[in-house]
Amino acid sequence: MAEDFRVDVQLSKDEQYVQLLLQLQSLWGGERHWVALLANTAAALHGVFGWHWVGFYTVHSSDELVLGPFQGPVACFRIKKHRGVCGAAWRAGQTVLVPDVEAFEGHIACSSLSRSEVVVPVRNARGEIVAVLDADSTELAGFDECDARHLQSICDQLGLLYEG
Ligand code: SME
Repeated sequence: MAEDFRVDVQLSKDEQYVQLLLQLQSLWGGERHWVALLANTAAALHGVFGWHWVGFYTVHSSDELVLGPFQGPVACFRIKKHRGVCGAAWRAGQTVLVPDVEAFEGHIACSSLSRSEVVVPVRNARGEIVAVLDADSTELAGFDECDARHLQSICDQLGLLYEG
């Protein structure tokens, strides 16, 4: 199963994401355990794109996120709503693309190797944000509008599976 989970690197990034989304939909299947879904989604994204860190922070309370399933180096456990890129995406209720983390005031450096980042809110069927997806790259401008758009689409579909 895991070895089948890959995209064709000859394709454009847009097309790779289309392939990836189809595979994710098949992977998710009828599973509705939220942690399990987040864990395999993080593993799939990490396996396909090889980012330095990719995973989820889930909404723990009205003003705090807590670390969820991820792939990569150890990361901070908790993030307050007024802090970091994750907090910014949560507050704004929209994707935040950070081409240079040093230029983002308040960025939380869980890893000194992270140079750029994208954070995408995950909404449940009621439109409430229940988690954020965070992806970090060791490259400057490691993510662009194409990543942001497709990751948003993945998170939109993932969020509909939330039954918590
Ligand atoms: N950089 C994030 C914190 C999480 S780690 O990157 C995994 C932020 O500023 O919110």
